[in-house]
Amino acid sequence: MKILVTGGTGYIGSHTVVELQNAGYEVVVIDNFDNSHPSVLLNIEKITGKKVVFENIDIRDKKSLREFVSKNKDINAVIHFAASKAVGESVENPLKYYENNVGGTLNLLEAMQENGIENIVFSSSCTVYGEATPPVNEDAPIMLAQSPYGNTKQICEEVLLDQTNASNLKTVSLRYFNPVGAHDSALIGELPLGIPNNLVPYITQTAIGKREILTVFGNDYNTPDGTCIRDFIHVVDLAKAHIKAVEYLSNKKYKSSYSVFNLGTGKGSSVLEVIQTFEKVTQVKLNYKIGPRRGGDITQIYAGCEKAEKELGWKTERDLENCMKTAWDWEKKLESLLIS
Ligand code: NAD
Ligand code: UFG
Repeated sequence: MKILVTGGTGYIGSHTVVELQNAGYEVVVIDNFDNSHPSVLLNIEKITGKKVVFENIDIRDKKSLREFVSKNKDINAVIHFAASKAVGESVENPLKYYENNVGGTLNLLEAMQENGIENIVFSSSCTVYGEATPPVNEDAPIMLAQSPYGNTKQICEEVLLDQTNASNLKTVSLRYFNPVGAHDSALIGELPLGIPNNLVPYITQTAIGKREILTVFGNDYNTPDGTCIRDFIHVVDLAKAHIKAVEYLSNKKYKSSYSVFNLGTGKGSSVLEVIQTFEKVTQVKLNYKIGPRRGGDITQIYAGCEKAEKELGWKTERDLENCMKTAWDWEKKLESLLIS
């Protein structure tokens, strides 16, 4: 089986390429390094012992993408990660997000249709649910998007549904909750550009001294300790779900040619619990303070994951402690990796 991974040098993509190669799939990666580093390719090879077949292609460049896909008509499935993902930036520069995330997906679907490639796994987000009562299942209503980024995920899901209904396309949309952690080897992990927006990279960068202090955005929420609650899922667990999704499509296990699955642990952890777990696992005291709420944050969300367990045969294996340990090991190793 030959799998095309778009955005395969990114955070989730690189971990998925590792799992695909380890499971014996032939993998082809495209990326434009907009939010990743070429060294990732070598580090994947170090982990799996297999060379990564790679082409530097921008999915907005329709001509190059079509040429590439037409030379690779034997692709059995596409896992589509390539997108821009910074919520704040999407508010400031919405056109970039619609062009890259929606426009790029349209280009990809066109190239797939032209070349008879019928299976796609799409990276969606729990952001489509907005503020809902957890545990949130797949049949929870889609809420008005809080940001252009969130809207691109909703639009792409709609485009995929329409194209699935209109053609031979088979689609799995995976709604990720909060991916964290890194590969056990500490050779790949999250590479936030500039100041991180997300909690876990901010924690590890503060602990290592790149940032002075972590601000906890609000402790006056209606939760047991007053801080927000999220469903933190280990990136390796998440990566493995993509293999299950590819199998689900290729073995035609689906009831409907368009399927949606939540990918989370089913357990919520508060911001303070994450900090305490980090301190416990690493024995590093974290410099943090309580600050005001961050605009746009929802109080709490965690996944209902029964559908993924029942239909995909997938569930998470790692806990928050492992998420913190691997994220910390990665942070410690990061500088030497980028230099080498
Ligand atoms: P990432 O930024 O690490 O990876 C995305 C990759 O896509 C990067 O390597 C980037 O260079 C590449 N890319 C971006 N635009 C491209 C283009 N036009 N052409 C080719 N390559 C391009 O992000 P990630 O965290 O690995 O996220 C992967 C996917 O999962 C994205 O679609 C993201 O929206 C989605 N997602 C992520 C999260 C999260 O918290 N990380 C949550 C929900 C959904
Ligand atoms: N937080 C802090 N301090 C920080 C960073 C985050 O207290 O420095 C808090 C946030 O206020 C929030 C929690 O930690 O309560 C988690 O925040 P993240 O930014 O790590 O994650 P979010 O749940 O806000 O966002 C994630 C993805 C988005 C996606 C969203 C969907 O990063 O791409 O989930 O809900 F849109």
